[in-house]
Order: sequence, then C-alpha cells, then structure tokens
Amino acid sequence: MKKLKWGMIGGGEGSQIGPAHRLGAGLDGVFEFSAGALDHRPDYGIDYGQRLGLGDRAYGGWEEMLEAEKKRDDRVDLVTVATPNATHFEITKAFLENGFHVLCEKPMTMTIEEGEDIVEIAKKTGNICAVNYGYTGYSLVRHMRAMIARGDIGKVRLVNAEFAHGHHADATDADNPRVRWRYDPAQAGVSAQFADCGIHALHMASFVTGQEVEKLSADTVSCIDVRTLEDDAMVNFRMDGGAVGRLWTSSIAIGRQHGLGIQVFGETGGLRWSQEHPNQLYYMPLGERLQVIERGEANLSPEADRTSRVTIGHAEGMPLAFANIYADLAEAISARKESRIMDSAANLYPRAEDGLRSMAAVFAVAQSGKEDGKWMDARPPMFR
Ligand code: NAI
Repeated sequence: MKKLKWGMIGGGEGSQIGPAHRLGAGLDGVFEFSAGALDHRPDYGIDYGQRLGLGDRAYGGWEEMLEAEKKRDDRVDLVTVATPNATHFEITKAFLENGFHVLCEKPMTMTIEEGEDIVEIAKKTGNICAVNYGYTGYSLVRHMRAMIARGDIGKVRLVNAEFAHGHHADATDADNPRVRWRYDPAQAGVSAQFADCGIHALHMASFVTGQEVEKLSADTVSCIDVRTLEDDAMVNFRMDGGAVGRLWTSSIAIGRQHGLGIQVFGETGGLRWSQEHPNQLYYMPLGERLQVIERGEANLSPEADRTSRVTIGHAEGMPLAFANIYADLAEAISARKESRIMDSAANLYPRAEDGLRSMAAVFAVAQSGKEDGKWMDARPPMFR
C-alpha cells in the first residue's frame, strides 16, 4: 500500500482525543502526518504543528488549511476533524465539498438536518465521510459482530449496552467552566450525557447486531439540580431485526471509570464485552460452559485477525482500536486510488449514515425525556 497523507483539525496540545488520533493514524506507517490546524488559537496551533514536524503545513486555522491544501498536488488524503462538537458540521462539509475524505469525531453534527446534509454531500461528492465510533475498531468487537452474523448465539433477543462513568458526579464542581458547558443547552444542544457517551453505546448495539434502532423511550434526569441537560439516562429501544434494547448512560456513577460495555443475548447463547477489558470476550453457549475468548487466539474471524496486532496475552488498548478505523480508511482510500475492490473485512468503518442515525436518536431521547418516556421514532426522516 502506498503511503497516504493525513491531516488533522483540532486535537491540539493538551486536548483529550488528539493523541489517540495521532497514535492511531501513525501506527501502521501507512498515514504520514502531513498537515494540521490543531488549535483554536492560531499561534499555538502553528507552534505545536511545527514541533510535531508539519513545517509550513502547520496552519493557523482550518480555512487556511483548506485553501492551501486544495492547491497542492500532494494534498492530504484524509482529514480528521477533532474539534469541539459545534464546529464539526461546517468543517466536515467544507472539506468534503472540496474533494477530501473526512473522519469526523462524534457527534457528527448538532442537528438531524445537518446530519442529512452531510450524508447527501458525501453521496454527491463520492468522498468518504467516516465518523469516529472508534471503539468499534476493537478486535473482539469485530469478532462479536462476526459471531452474531454467523449465528453463534442464534436470533438476537436482547441487547444491554452501558456507558456510565462518574467523572461529573461532584456537585461542588458543577460550576467549573470545563464541566458546566456540557449541561448548558446553549453550548451543548438538546442532550448532554446521551449525546456525549450514550451514542457510542447505541451505535455499538447496532454495530454488533447488524440491526438499526427504530424507536425508543427515555427516562432522562439531571441528578445535579443546577444542570439543565441530563447527566443520566435510561433508554429502552427496539431494533429493526426484532431485538429489544436497554441502554444506561450516566456521568454521576461514582466509582465507574470509562464504563462502556455491551451484552447481547440470543436464542442459543450470550456474549459480553467491556471497553476496560477489551482483550477478553465472554461467550456462553446455551447449556454449555462459559468460554473466555482471548484477542489474538487462533481460529477467530477474519475481521478479528485483521484488527489484532500484538501476540495473545499482551494487552491492546484504545489507540489500537482507533488504528483499526484508520487501517479501514487507508484500505478504502487506497482501493479507490488503485481502482480495485476493497478488502471486505476492512469495510466496517462507521459512516456518515451512522452519525446521522445517532443524531436522530439524540433528538428522540431528548423529546421522550421531556414527555415522560413517550415512545419516539428514532430513525432520521431520510431513512423512514
Ligand atoms: P478538547 O477540548 O480537549 O480539545 C479540543 C481541541 O480542538 C483543542 O486543541 C482546541 O484548541 C482545538 N480547537 C477548537 N476549536 C478549533 C478550531 N476551530 N480549529 C482548530 N482547532 C480547534 O476536546 P476533546 O475532548 O479532545 O474533544 C474533541 C472532539 O472529540 C469532541 O467532538 C468530542 O466529542 C470527541 N471525542 C471523542 C471521543 C471518542 O471516543 N470518539 C473521546 C473524546 C472526545
């Protein structure tokens, strides 16, 4: 595979998610970090970009990066958007419209309409728009999906997903500006915890089962009463293949750390996986003994083999899951450049359609929460 050029907007020094993208994109030596507008403060962004080796392709802002990159013959092949949520739509749209492939952080947009626009622009331009549901890159999540698809647990009856942490549980810290904005509708939109974390769990439920969410009912609460938006939600949902779904998301669950996990129960077996122990997948075939599947063991699925790098027994973690999303995208972009069919095991990266479905779910959760748990259609109008 020929080396590809990669750029990033946001993800500056001290940011939460920037390092995981740089590690993920750089891991296989396929993407070369070539350009960036890394910070909302132009000087800081240029300085940091230069320290990371970007030279004169360290830009002071994304508009400047777009103008300069689109004129170059060796323009970046993929742009990652890792800025705060409210800027995703504008930046993603501009790069897609100018011929770049984009990996956008979640949530892809702030509204359903913007999400539909992005889906249409990606379709019209033919450019890839991926969304960083990066946890779907874990090898054993890919394996879980493959097991369910080949019928190892039979027809799926129930999915139980969680993303509950305790990092915003301190009521005396609720006024801290780094925390407060997240629960303020003027800055965060219609939902806080569900839009931030719940959508990862909901997307994971769709990813592993291969089913889409059709409708949902939500109980949303602000356990810290100065907050306008929810810091905890319990969401019941129904999927288009008949699966029943339960999802709990919280930011006040003291003692919980990251807190993403998923269990799927079928007619002939159950599966359980958790982000904090990603190298083990628990499989219980009906009437038999519990089995622990280890990442890297022999005879897993092609999807798992492709996304496992380190020998069994050594832990692989989150930046490697992100690296698998980048590996999928490298394969997708290279296949286009070389006019060949891409490896189907790589064709699993989350797409703009997934980002749009999440946005529709966010609005359905917010509305259902206001209406005492009324069941709402969770599908984007475009997909009804
Ligand atoms: P952060 O606040 O730690 O960092 C944001 C970075 O973007 C900073 O370096 C800032 O200077 C830069 N920035 C802001 N506006 C910019 C602009 N207009 N142009 C260029 N740079 C700009 O934020 P964090 O936590 O890293 O989150 C960024 C995004 O990543 C959010 O959308 C968040 O939802 C998402 N995220 C996704 C995760 C995942 O697992 N997929 C995990 C954590 C965050």
